Amino acid sequence: MAAKIIDGKAISVSYRAEISEDTAKFKEKYGFAPGLAVVIVGEDPASKVYVRNKKLGCEQVGFNSAVYELPENTTKDELNALIDKLNADKSVHGILVQLPLPKHLDSEEVIARISPEKDVDAFHESNVGRIMIGNYSFLPCTPAGVMVLLEKSGIDISGKECVVIGRSNIVGKPMAMLLLQANGTVTVCHSRTKDLAEVTRRADILVVAIGKADFVTADMVKPGAVVIDVGMNRRADGKLTGDVDFESVSEVASYITPVPGGVGPMTITMLLKNTLVAAENFAKK
Ligand code: GUN
Repeated sequence: MAAKIIDGKAISVSYRAEISEDTAKFKEKYGFAPGLAVVIVGEDPASKVYVRNKKLGCEQVGFNSAVYELPENTTKDELNALIDKLNADKSVHGILVQLPLPKHLDSEEVIARISPEKDVDAFHESNVGRIMIGNYSFLPCTPAGVMVLLEKSGIDISGKECVVIGRSNIVGKPMAMLLLQANGTVTVCHSRTKDLAEVTRRADILVVAIGKADFVTADMVKPGAVVIDVGMNRRADGKLTGDVDFESVSEVASYITPVPGGVGPMTITMLLKNTLVAAENFAKK
């Protein structure tokens, strides 16, 4: 069986077009544009690319955006002062501090300082708690993007065996929660899971977010399963690859996301959606 490819690029393009339309209506109604502030500390090249793409995404849908590029040796007090300023700025509706931060800065403390109403990453503990009880404004961008890919591909989650590999705060844990809220039967696997392949072979929907190139092979996948690859790894030859061995797994799965062009394009799209929601919440206050 050759799996159907879930085209994250195409789904992202049409979802962004919807956000653009909603933004135009927002501006007409309220007389101002949604605003996103992105903070980057240091010179990490991958982070710089992500930040540039976030800014471009904002321009594309009609938001205001500002990027604050701080030097590697920025102190905790200096970063806190900037976050306080952005928290108080009425033209800023979303604040994103690009991770990872340099080692001398504590990312948990930094995230906790962002006003939860402006935390468009949904990393603040109050937003994480709201996701647990199903009463949220924002969802973390990557798992939210996966849910949109499943929905737009017509894949029903209710009653399905869902297996998530990876338990990070950014992807694995919130992903499990969203699948649970969609009435999936959810198992979370991690580095201490015994007989991983035995568990993954039970999955109707398998989401892989572990950061190991080509880790999931065809023998770990039930024929007909939906396989979502959140991984983004660079091979020795410089090529991008996911956590799933696409070549073999696409022979057994019913649906599969490619890397690149699967989950990746959705992440910034969901950030834009969260920023629009934050601006709407601000405008309605
Ligand atoms: N670094 C890698 N992914 C992300 C993300 O989604 N948000 C932030 N703030 N930093 C990241």
